[in-house]
Amino acid sequence: MDTLFLPATEENIKTAAGLLRRGQVVAFPTETVYGLGADALNEAAVAAIFAAKERPADNPLIVHVAERAQLDGLCHVTDIARALMNAYWPGPLTLLLQKTNRVPGITTANLPSVAVRCPRHPVALALLRASGVPIAAPSANRSGRPSPTSARHVLEDMRGRIPLILDGGPCEVGVESTVLDLTGPVPCILRPGAVTKEMVAAIAGDCAVAPSVMRPLRPGEAAPSPGMRHRHYAPRAKMTVFVGDEEKVIAEICRRYDETENACILAHENAVPAFGGRRVLSLGDTKEQGANRLFACLRETDEMGVSCVLAMGWDEEGVGLAVMNRMARAAAFDIVRCG
Ligand code: TXA
Ligand code: MG
Repeated sequence: MDTLFLPATEENIKTAAGLLRRGQVVAFPTETVYGLGADALNEAAVAAIFAAKERPADNPLIVHVAERAQLDGLCHVTDIARALMNAYWPGPLTLLLQKTNRVPGITTANLPSVAVRCPRHPVALALLRASGVPIAAPSANRSGRPSPTSARHVLEDMRGRIPLILDGGPCEVGVESTVLDLTGPVPCILRPGAVTKEMVAAIAGDCAVAPSVMRPLRPGEAAPSPGMRHRHYAPRAKMTVFVGDEEKVIAEICRRYDETENACILAHENAVPAFGGRRVLSLGDTKEQGANRLFACLRETDEMGVSCVLAMGWDEEGVGLAVMNRMARAAAFDIVRCG
């Protein structure tokens, strides 16, 4: 299959919308990461997403809508859900709600809940409106690769597998949306994102975080979200994350770098000079910049063919939890605390 790679102009968005209505798969930008979209209510179209991504069938998809009214008949919207939508939609917040039987089992991996989100990227919204269908969309990477934060990343993973990629430039947030389970007694974050625990608690009164966000599942422990069972965000190199006192972190990374062949450092911008002539990629100065750059850096380490990645982490406050969740998974939870 030839893959068209087109700028997200009004005309090309119309072309993409036509493909979606005919049951095809199209990649498009959102404010978090690029998505691989198809009509969420068309079983064959959703099956084509799983095939293009090589995604295990037991990992459910997020259903994207242009506005709340598009959820009518698809799921049961609770009072807390409504309040959170008022506060954070459109935006990087995905809500798990009880689904109706209009949503096909393949979209939710036969779970009784459906994940729903209204993205705030103008191209995503225009595509949703032009197609008129709710769009099921996982991140547009091949399974096991870092999520794509630019159209070029999508092309790397999806060339020849889908008919069209809409290029809307780099993504603003850079980590996937917060996944919040609203089907239990207390709202619970299954995957942290730019809408933080603090932001959810400010509206919902309370917010829990699934324990498996920052540690591996124990043998026999049920995964709160199927996505957590699968290997994720992994660079080809062996990765270790260092947190704690900055001077000690830098010293320890230098020590390991010097005794390892073919290593690469992911550093906070301000710390780059401290690593001297060693091979360094900058994650930026703030956690927000770290969220924005992490996946691109991981892809770059793959391209460089390094065998070892030594990364400076952040604390887990605010959006730090989302960054550290992705780093921990990329490093298979190899986190070293210094000082
Ligand atoms: O920012 C995002 O959320 C991006 C953009 C494209 O919107 N999408 C995305 O989708 O990251 P995906 O499929 O890569 O991640 C969805 C996560 C998975 O971990 C999945 O297991 C979980 O949400 N999920 C989806 N539906 C679920 C459900 N019904 N119950 C539990 N977890 C669910
Ligand atoms: Mg994904």
